[in-house]
Amino acid sequence: MTAICTIGTLHSRVDGLELAPEKKLEDLQQQQLQAYFKVNSIIPALWLKHLVRVMSPNPSQVVCLSARVGSISDNRIGGWYGYRASKAALNMLVKTAAVEYGRRAKSTSLLCYHPGTVDTSLSEPFQHNVKPEKLFTPEFTAQQLIAALATLDSDQSPYFLDWGHKVVSW
Ligand SMILES: NC(=O)c1ccc[n+]([C@@H]2O[C@H](COP(=O)([O-])OP(=O)(O)OC[C@H]3O[C@@H](n4cnc5c(N)ncnc54)[C@H](OP(=O)(O)O)[C@@H]3O)[C@@H](O)[C@H]2O)c1
Repeated sequence: MTAICTIGTLHSRVDGLELAPEKKLEDLQQQQLQAYFKVNSIIPALWLKHLVRVMSPNPSQVVCLSARVGSISDNRIGGWYGYRASKAALNMLVKTAAVEYGRRAKSTSLLCYHPGTVDTSLSEPFQHNVKPEKLFTPEFTAQQLIAALATLDSDQSPYFLDWGHKVVSW
């Protein structure tokens, strides 16, 4: 059994608020930060809460679409405070849940997946910075994710992997 949570936002409208990734500290706003955490951290956490009771005893996977910018140790260029912090929080929620899944859903691997830069509405305003060969189709990154699932071992869970199946530091 595999469950994949693809929810996430970078610049969409949430609860009537048009989100815009912050470039500097002065851009931080309470409501925007709350919206990022609601969509990128809290809703996936509720998935984790409900899935633990229904996962199969056979080898299974729960995947949350994360992002490399949510890596605390890899953060060198800053910016995008709300998106970064809410993805870092997502990663921590997955890591924490993995401890409990290890007791309650032992055959389930948890994966935070960085899909690369994918040609969707989420990345559209930022695609001009991306080399054409680094802008993936949704089909490509989905296929890469499906291929990664077969390599997961619940004893090694949780994972933070990118589209090339390389480990991303937490
Ligand atoms: N595209 C990239 O380059 C990229 C890079 C790194 C990570 N990611 C991550 O990959 C995941 C998928 O992103 P994507 O590129 O496919 O973006 P997308 O096309 O904008 O899809 C985002 C998904 O999140 C849902 N969503 C957004 N706001 C929501 C809200 N307030 N309530 C409920 N659902 C909401 C959307 O639902 P609706 O369709 O109903 O609006 C949609 O299914 C996200 O977690 C994103 O952070 C993407």
